[in-house]
Amino acid sequence: MNMTTHIKPLSKRAAWNALNTHYKKVQSLHLRTLFADDPKRGERMTAEAAGIYLDYSKNRISDETLKLLVQLAGESGLREQIDAMFRGEKINITENRAVLHVALRALRGTSILVDGKNVVPQVHAVLDKMADFSNRVRQGAWKGHTGKSIRNIINIGIGGSDLGPVMAYEALKHYSDRRMTFRFVSNIDGTDFAEAVQDLDPAQTLFIVSSKTFTTLETMTNARTARAWLLKGLSGDEKSIAKHFVAVSTNETEVAKFGIDTANMFGFWDWVGGRYSMDSAIGLSTMLAIGPDNFSAMLSGFHQMDEHFRITPFERNLPVLMALLTIWYTGFFDAHTIAVLPYEQYLKRFPAYLQQLTMESNGKYITLDGIQVDYQTSPVYWGEPGTNGQHSFYQLIHQGTRFIPCDFIAFGTSLNPLGRHHDMLIANVFAQAEALAFGKTAEQVKAEGTPNWLVPHRVFEGNRPSNIIFADRLTPEILGKLVALYEHCVFTQGVIWQIDSFDQWGVELGKVLAQRIIPELESKSEPELAHDSSTNNLIRRYRRNKS
Ligand code: F6P
Repeated sequence: MNMTTHIKPLSKRAAWNALNTHYKKVQSLHLRTLFADDPKRGERMTAEAAGIYLDYSKNRISDETLKLLVQLAGESGLREQIDAMFRGEKINITENRAVLHVALRALRGTSILVDGKNVVPQVHAVLDKMADFSNRVRQGAWKGHTGKSIRNIINIGIGGSDLGPVMAYEALKHYSDRRMTFRFVSNIDGTDFAEAVQDLDPAQTLFIVSSKTFTTLETMTNARTARAWLLKGLSGDEKSIAKHFVAVSTNETEVAKFGIDTANMFGFWDWVGGRYSMDSAIGLSTMLAIGPDNFSAMLSGFHQMDEHFRITPFERNLPVLMALLTIWYTGFFDAHTIAVLPYEQYLKRFPAYLQQLTMESNGKYITLDGIQVDYQTSPVYWGEPGTNGQHSFYQLIHQGTRFIPCDFIAFGTSLNPLGRHHDMLIANVFAQAEALAFGKTAEQVKAEGTPNWLVPHRVFEGNRPSNIIFADRLTPEILGKLVALYEHCVFTQGVIWQIDSFDQWGVELGKVLAQRIIPELESKSEPELAHDSSTNNLIRRYRRNKS
């Protein structure tokens, strides 16, 4: 089945061709000129929804650019695709699945159908079960095998079953129960597990094995190691597993096979993509940390942004505007990367979280029609919290040869007000966006008395675009809005690039090859190797080293 056969390939859409012509006219326009010609630009080119303010005025666009980009969204069938997603249609065509992370935050009592069945009641049943469990653990009513209360929570998962939980835990640490310790184990590298448990008492430790499939090599290996560690610490009593292991998965059979009582399993569904799952039961560690009420507030934030995305005209729709800017820069300005720069220490894992969300979703070169694209798709997303990045890679963003649009994220108030820190932090984020956009001319540098030979080094050409995403303060609700903002931005990009943003076939090949290599590394006798000469040689070298 092909969902988009009625949509023309990108390069054949009228708006794309108009943008191509338009680009030639505006490509050399400087932000200095755009601002000088329109003194109200900085107030006009802004949009606000659900407590999130987006200043997109420092982008290399005119009103005409925006008009054409919005027209492109229309010609790309964005409205129809948004409606199809919210209706539960199987828009993930290569896996024949609905894409319904929006149902995870649908209000109790509403209805979203998948194959004719309302899924909202199941969502709330799982949320209620999570809340009951979280309350019992947090209040110390859920006892470990020896009768001690649980104080340490270790989430074992990888990809979407790790990055969302870690990011949310770090982002919302301010709201967390500080008497409890939270750790996250993801890597197959044994060091990850060893360091996570080295100072913990097994009698007070609960493992959440989080895996949509419950077959992922890293997660299942770490879960088995955790099981052995726990049994060793609790005199080998198998009965202890029930009190120290819970599972989050869609795969009841595998959970039972692992030895976790399915009564201690929190389910979700195949219509939740791994990288879109932090607000499903995959967020159990988040709920344990911040409590059910704060978790509900986060879901409410997600839902408010969903509604904004669903009903707001594209020219005022935050996720759509952000996506259109990315399409403009990757398509016409040869932007290869986008920097996401949160001026909020609690968001230190947000760029890492976004890497999976954006690049596993839209890092694809085949369209829904099975044809190779003749345009760029997802840029590389990366970033670090401000102001640390300023003393590291900002040099390149300001004066390097690369074109790197930036998303700055900042908050009006600090969760830890300390003297002048917050004013200084915010002064820096505003200053960076200003410096990138307007730079510093040779005349300005000379006027400061700089010797001629040094002038070129001290010139900032400017005209480097950025968005400022601004909210009052980092709360669970705002985090939900922020994540949903990027989720829908990714969705919009995928629709315009005409790709399936919800599969991830590109991760398969490496996994399969690793399964073939593992026995070759472990076998007692010398294996017969049939790889390329480089891989064969590396395997032999590793084996020699091992022995
Ligand atoms: O890396 C591929 C992937 O399938 C991701 O999409 C997913 O988030 C991750 O592996 C973990 O999968 P699971 O939750 O099934 O263990």
